[in-house]
Amino acid sequence: MSLSIALTKGRLEKTTVDMLKECGYGVDGVIHKNRELVIADTVKDIRYFLVKSNDCITYVEHGVADVGIVGKDTLMEGGKDYYEMLDLECGKCRFVVAGLKDKNPLHKVGHITIGTKYPKITQEYFQKKGLDAEIIKIDGSVELSPLLGLCDGIVDITETGTTLRENGLVIYDTVAEVSARVIVNKVSFKMKKKEVMQLLQDLERIVQKNASRNQSE
Ligand code: PRP
Repeated sequence: MSLSIALTKGRLEKTTVDMLKECGYGVDGVIHKNRELVIADTVKDIRYFLVKSNDCITYVEHGVADVGIVGKDTLMEGGKDYYEMLDLECGKCRFVVAGLKDKNPLHKVGHITIGTKYPKITQEYFQKKGLDAEIIKIDGSVELSPLLGLCDGIVDITETGTTLRENGLVIYDTVAEVSARVIVNKVSFKMKKKEVMQLLQDLERIVQKNASRNQSE
């Protein structure tokens, strides 16, 4: 039976496609794509969709994609109607609380405002800390919000730290570590078990290989 895989565009795209390539899958069409968004594997009976991270969950939850590869950050913020099967241990990022130098929002007395693309995670974090924060949902360039005085701080993901540094922001706490995960539609897991398990085994092999490569470096 053929398999449909939703891949997340952007940050995770190259590493996940490289992993599939290393598994022996025919992903050259994904690597050298033009503007097409549905691409057939040249070796296996697989179709790939390239979608935004939130949409990856939606496609998997609705069974349009049997499998999705998406960041844990998006999973923590988004839906729950899927099986999370494998940590690919790539695309590693940190969720952090950041703010202007010498202005730790966690030490502010009184009303705290936090800008973020991730209101649910931010809410949970501040609730756990027993801090009453007003969450302001921002869709992009979150780092701007404390600079322009919209917020006292932000909760966002950081990979290299470059964006924070270049905008004069300092990390005050780590909320969670995140990486790319494989999610599977619940019905596909039953109906296409053989194909799904094969994919998971192939990817797991590369995860192990990468881990031992990293250890010996
Ligand atoms: C994330 C995040 C930061 C940036 C940090 O955005 O929101 O802006 O990456 O990365 P760095 O620590 O390596 O500088 P992303 O690139 O995922 O794009 P988005 O704004 O479209 O979500």
